[in-house]
Amino acid sequence: MADQPDHLDTPPSDRPEVHLRMLVADDADWVVAVDRAAATPLAGQHGWEEGKLAAELDEGTWASDDRWAWAVMVDGEPCGFALVTGLADHDAEMTIRISPKVRGRGVGREVLRQLADHHFSANEHLMRLTGRAHEHNVPMQRVFNAAGFRMEARYRDAVEQADGRFAAEWGYALTRSDWAAGRHREGNQGYDLHGLRFEIDEVAEGPPAQGMLATFLQEGRRVICRYDADRVFDGELAGILTGDLLRYRFVHTEEHRGGTTDEALGRGRARIQRREDGRLEVVDQWSDDRGQHGRRVMVQRFSST
Ligand SMILES: CC(C)(COP(=O)(O)OP(=O)(O)OC[C@H]1O[C@@H](n2cnc3c(N)ncnc32)[C@H](O)[C@@H]1OP(=O)(O)O)[C@@H](O)C(=O)NCCC(=O)NCCS
Repeated sequence: MADQPDHLDTPPSDRPEVHLRMLVADDADWVVAVDRAAATPLAGQHGWEEGKLAAELDEGTWASDDRWAWAVMVDGEPCGFALVTGLADHDAEMTIRISPKVRGRGVGREVLRQLADHHFSANEHLMRLTGRAHEHNVPMQRVFNAAGFRMEARYRDAVEQADGRFAAEWGYALTRSDWAAGRHREGNQGYDLHGLRFEIDEVAEGPPAQGMLATFLQEGRRVICRYDADRVFDGELAGILTGDLLRYRFVHTEEHRGGTTDEALGRGRARIQRREDGRLEVVDQWSDDRGQHGRRVMVQRFSST
């Protein structure tokens, strides 16, 4: 199925028209409103005061050699903004906010692609366009992946949360050579399982897998997954995804009746495909070192929790 069109880059019929323009003082009112509306527990407000922001935009604070502020226009309407700082150095950092009403339609990834095109063209000494995402901010991590950015770092205790505790952030970058190679617009790189959760749908062969829940992380072709089931603990899987085929090894602890436990090590092959209702499914065939084997189907859970 390597020639199957990739769902991620097949434009849906409602794919919006996205472009960036410079922010000006008159934009301050809606920028402040979008900043409030777009804030989530994983990406807080910038907390601007409208008059001060209008003055900064008027004075050119956000249109300098070092920093730039963009309005994100979606079908002609202002629906978000992007800020880029550090343009005078080799490393610039970007942050974006997209209005909730247009999320999930590919705006975020298109903004990153356009930021890369603009800044790598306009700033000839710029080597890296970087950004950060809270480690639970799956939408932003998927946006980075789709726009060719690589995850490079995990910053521990980097961002303060509402409860006063600190959480980790992941650092991403697109380099000038990534951009020159067109990685930011490559698309059609296959399935992205990153941040997605799957639950058991059907066991066609082998022992039952009641309560099985699997959470995937993916970077390029490398896939890892954590899973548990009613009688399975600490499941870890690692593999390589080629087209729609994931080849993997796994290890987990299994609890038997009577309370004894043992460790299972094994391997498997899983086909990824999309159902008619839009959910992904994983058709999985596995065997372990105790001679057990099975076939099962897992289906994507739409809830984010
Ligand atoms: C993160 C943000 C910029 C994404 O913008 P967007 O226009 O929705 O982005 P896209 O539509 O291009 O992509 C979003 C991806 O996240 C996925 N997604 C959304 N919610 C999800 C969830 N709860 N679980 C898993 N994936 C989710 C979407 O399906 C999409 O991926 P896919 O198309 O590969 O399936 C936007 O949600 C936002 O402004 N959030 C608040 C601020 C923020 O987090 N900023 C980032 C810090 S710099």
